[in-house]
Amino acid sequence: MPLPALFQGALSIPVIGSPMFLVSFPPLVTALCKAGVVGTFPHVNARPTAQLDEWLTAIERDLAEASAAAPLATPAPYGINLVVHHSNPRFEPDLEVVVAHRVPFVITCLGNPAPVVQAVHGYGGTVFCDVTSAGHARKSVRAGVDGLICVGAGAGGHASSQSAFSLVREIREFWDGCLVLGGAINDGWQVRAAETLGADLAYVGTRFLATRESQAVDDYKRMVVEAGVADLVNTDRFSGVPANFLRASIERFGIDVASLPPKKPDMASLTDSNARVWKDLWSAGQGVATIHDIPSVAELVERIAREYRAACALPPSAALRG
Ligand SMILES: Cc1cc2nc3c(=O)[nH]c(=O)nc-3n(C[C@H](O)[C@H](O)[C@H](O)COP(=O)(O)O)c2cc1C
Repeated sequence: MPLPALFQGALSIPVIGSPMFLVSFPPLVTALCKAGVVGTFPHVNARPTAQLDEWLTAIERDLAEASAAAPLATPAPYGINLVVHHSNPRFEPDLEVVVAHRVPFVITCLGNPAPVVQAVHGYGGTVFCDVTSAGHARKSVRAGVDGLICVGAGAGGHASSQSAFSLVREIREFWDGCLVLGGAINDGWQVRAAETLGADLAYVGTRFLATRESQAVDDYKRMVVEAGVADLVNTDRFSGVPANFLRASIERFGIDVASLPPKKPDMASLTDSNARVWKDLWSAGQGVATIHDIPSVAELVERIAREYRAACALPPSAALRG
């Protein structure tokens, strides 16, 4: 399956570190890229637009210095996530900044990617769209994206309720371009499983949240380490669309998760308007089941690479006849 030229021979593991609101800041992005993983962040983490310009300048400088210091270990490309939702007033000014910096990789979410495709293809950049259903994937393909990111059930942040097994194979019936799979992927075994299913790259969020370089506060990281799947609440009551939250982060405000108020209207965008929700109520995916530590990004990526190599060397099942 075609991998865009941007990613060919450029990664230490076939993984994109997914963008996380209030979690993915430049230190996490550059640590991921230096470890050979695509580092990304949501544009709204930088506020206002002038700070986005500063962040992009700093990321580019940091990666260029790393590249000059170790020419044989060129950092992976970085990317930005743009919220295309009509309620996002930052979309147009921030897209201008993205174009001015010629950001190599752009991920769109929550809206029609067509204007981003046009702008980013104008300077040779690569655009993927984050989708949670086959219907959404079809629309994105028509808009001319270079790749699809499908996020299956159990993911951190806004997630589909559709199983990854079902979602990937459904999209593969009509899309033979680059496909990325996210949702509860933490280790090299799961990365390999995503490839076996038909994905080209894995999309990893919650696992990278619990690293030293992430911007999540220490209590949040500890809660991710201590939580099991039973400690998650899947609800649309806070941001308007279903998302997984850590129950303890809700209950510490005296909120009873069994009697949450009605859903808010059209608050799907991860913008300033609901930043408060995401700052106080902490999201994580079902990957919490196997997250037991808070390593550095470099240590974690080395571990995933070892597991991935072991998974690639697996023999066929002993159950096969003959
Ligand atoms: C705390 C948190 C914040 C997130 N914020 C965003 C965001 O701003 N934009 C976005 O497209 N996805 C966001 N996501 C979803 C991730 O990009 C990705 O789809 C998801 O983390 C993958 O599943 P995993 O967390 O189980 O690995 C967020 C996820 C988490 C856990």
